[in-house]
Amino acid sequence: MDLDLFTMERYQSLYWHEVEYDLSESGVRPMSIRDLLGPVADAEAFMATSLGYPLSEGSAETRANIAQWYPGAAVENVTVANGGSEANFLTLWSLLDQGDRLAFMVPNYMQGKGLGRAFGKGVDTFSLRHSEGRWHLDLDQLREAVTKKTKAVMVCNPNNPTGYVLSEAEMDAVVAAAERVGAWIVADEIYRGAEVDADVASPTFWGRYDKVVITSGLSKAFAMPGLRVGWMVAPHKMISKIWERHDYTTLTPSMAGDQLCRFAMQPEVRENIFARTRSIIRANLPAMEGWIATHDDIFTYVRPAAGAIAYVDYNLPVRSGALVERIREQASVLLVPGEMFGLKKGKGLRFGFGYDIEHTMKGLARVDEVLAEIREEGRAAP
Ligand SMILES: Cc1ncc(COP(=O)(O)O)c(C=O)c1O
Repeated sequence: MDLDLFTMERYQSLYWHEVEYDLSESGVRPMSIRDLLGPVADAEAFMATSLGYPLSEGSAETRANIAQWYPGAAVENVTVANGGSEANFLTLWSLLDQGDRLAFMVPNYMQGKGLGRAFGKGVDTFSLRHSEGRWHLDLDQLREAVTKKTKAVMVCNPNNPTGYVLSEAEMDAVVAAAERVGAWIVADEIYRGAEVDADVASPTFWGRYDKVVITSGLSKAFAMPGLRVGWMVAPHKMISKIWERHDYTTLTPSMAGDQLCRFAMQPEVRENIFARTRSIIRANLPAMEGWIATHDDIFTYVRPAAGAIAYVDYNLPVRSGALVERIREQASVLLVPGEMFGLKKGKGLRFGFGYDIEHTMKGLARVDEVLAEIREEGRAAP
């Protein structure tokens, strides 16, 4: 099988733990097990959890609690995996055969594109664009990308890296495009619940069309990436197919993951977790935006609607991969370049701001030095 390098994950795997300032992370400061269970939790009861195999599809209670977050979904519409990444893997593996094409929104987390090329026949992209301080979906490109050969249309909503949330009209357009050719929609909604301004979760694709698979998990809005819990919500027949494929990857979630996910997905606990995530985002974003504003002669920035990530386009004579590499080497700060989100010529940078903001600002001060140097070089050039 011809498999593209998943450049962003590879880059992060190599360097996130080696730099002094890792601003490549897209989530918020993780919760501890104690934060999750609460100060009066019976820690002994948790310690007594038997580390046997959990049910392969996740326990009925865990799946029921996940289903509650998707109006109209029931236990049989849910199966649990190890992380959102395994959810995406199992879904695309289950959906795509060799003659099938995937229509894929960019910019995006590029796992879907790599898997679309590996499992299917090829990938057709359609874009998010920004103008006048607002992102929007290019509807003409969407129409062109979705053809009779398209088996699935994949979106990431809320979007990584832009933090954009599709409007209702844009969601309708994605559904209409898929419906026109009988394609599936795969909606990676792992940032849903991490809204910057709103106190309610962004809309889900679940319930808008009968051929929808939602992929999600506890890693981003739920602040528990180390638990490695992901899930899929889909019509029962598709869930059965995905579950069968799970037998070939990791068999089951972990027992700790299943149990803690059951606890986290109780509606009241879930909303408390989102309140924590949103309060971190709201506390940190002004400092991040203040810093971005000091570069408004070279940055074009659109405020995210969700997620602890800020994306800027920049106007400097250097490609994003090379710029990020220079910043890493000179300043020991790790960012993610626009190139790694499918924007080949895009001169963009993604900054994570969901962790210790004072530490983040120190990292950004180092980025200032590199940017100043590049400007100097530009002025010195003939
Ligand atoms: C859109 C998106 N989906 C999935 C993942 C992977 O999630 P997990 O860490 O739960 O495997 C990420 C991680 O960055 C992501 O941004």
